[in-house]
Amino acid sequence: MHFLMLYASGTGNTELMAEAMVAHLNNHQHEVVTKTFDFDPIDVKELLQYDAVLIGTHTWDDGDLPYEVEDFYEELEDVDITGRVFGVFGSADSFYDTYGGAVDLLADHLNNLGAAPPKQLKVDLEPDREDIVHCEQFVDVVVGLVGETA
Ligand SMILES: Cc1cc2nc3c(=O)[nH]c(=O)nc-3n(C[C@H](O)[C@H](O)[C@H](O)COP(=O)(O)O)c2cc1C
Repeated sequence: MHFLMLYASGTGNTELMAEAMVAHLNNHQHEVVTKTFDFDPIDVKELLQYDAVLIGTHTWDDGDLPYEVEDFYEELEDVDITGRVFGVFGSADSFYDTYGGAVDLLADHLNNLGAAPPKQLKVDLEPDREDIVHCEQFVDVVVGLVGETA
């Protein structure tokens, strides 16, 4: 299968999750194109070229999306993602009231736009060994979802 991995990570925790997911997919002979919201131009139309899209985002401010993900969030409305498979994940801090709010915002938005109900995974701060296993299990579920919708 062919995956797109997009992520935004300020201090590297969400990046560690993304790296674990990409390594796991590669180990299972899936192809992954990786882009970051900080450095790569992202055209929402390219989402349609993949079997599934994984989106990682840290949470900022008061449970909000990070600044670098805002344009992408709005541009999603310009493309038909009906029935498409997404996984949304991110590191957050359970110290805050709106734990991982950005993950919820993005997953709800995708869902409202008609995507298949997105799988979600939040990790508290830096992923430990057990969290990495959860990242691997998370992508396995997304792979399974692609199988169902294919
Ligand atoms: C200014 C600021 C605001 C934050 N607000 C929230 C928040 O509302 N909810 C939350 O769960 N985490 C919040 N966090 C915690 C980050 O999401 C958390 O540190 C995460 O591990 C960062 O991921 P990253 O290393 O991928 O950037 C905030 C962090 C900072 C610095």
